[in-house]
Amino acid sequence: MTAIQAMQQRRSIRSYTTQSVDRATISEIIDCARLAPTAMNDQPWEFVVITEKSSLARIPQLLGHAEFIATAALCILVLARPSTCAVEDCCAATQNLLLAAHAHGLGACWVAGSPLPYAPAVAALFGAPPTHTLVSIVAVGHPAESPSVEKRSLADVLHWEKY
Ligand SMILES: Cc1cc2nc3c(=O)[nH]c(=O)nc-3n(C[C@H](O)[C@H](O)[C@H](O)COP(=O)(O)O)c2cc1C
Repeated sequence: MTAIQAMQQRRSIRSYTTQSVDRATISEIIDCARLAPTAMNDQPWEFVVITEKSSLARIPQLLGHAEFIATAALCILVLARPSTCAVEDCCAATQNLLLAAHAHGLGACWVAGSPLPYAPAVAALFGAPPTHTLVSIVAVGHPAESPSVEKRSLADVLHWEKY
């Protein structure tokens, strides 16, 4: 799969089989995330991988939505220490997570962290220091759906030379 194909084909997956994901694959996905660009090369992130079923089930309870996290093989918390462009940096890492998961034949879904009110409680539950912000939560598993989603056309969004 080329990088172009991964970007063209990736969709948010919220339904998963019961199959687990091996640690080597998870590690490679995180490895792709930590190689994302960051302002001033600050790399302000930490990644917490959660695979315990009881822990996964706690997350949607705190969020009040995203029940599919409880059925994922794992989820990844993307945490940021204070940094100039921490949110942008961690969003770049999150996109790398999604694309790396897709390249491995896995399905993933980005779930909002900050600035939603539940973010500090989720971060605290998994031991993050209070200085750190939960930027995103990524649910990952073997896909049990292949959804299509409406996207704005290239012609609608592309402006040559001037808006
Ligand atoms: C910042 C951000 C927050 C999101 N939060 C959620 C969420 O809380 N729950 C959810 O089911 N999907 C969430 N998504 C996934 C979007 O719903 C999804 O990307 C969008 O519908 C487009 O679909 P696609 O990813 O298949 O292209 C989020 C995506 C982003 C970028």
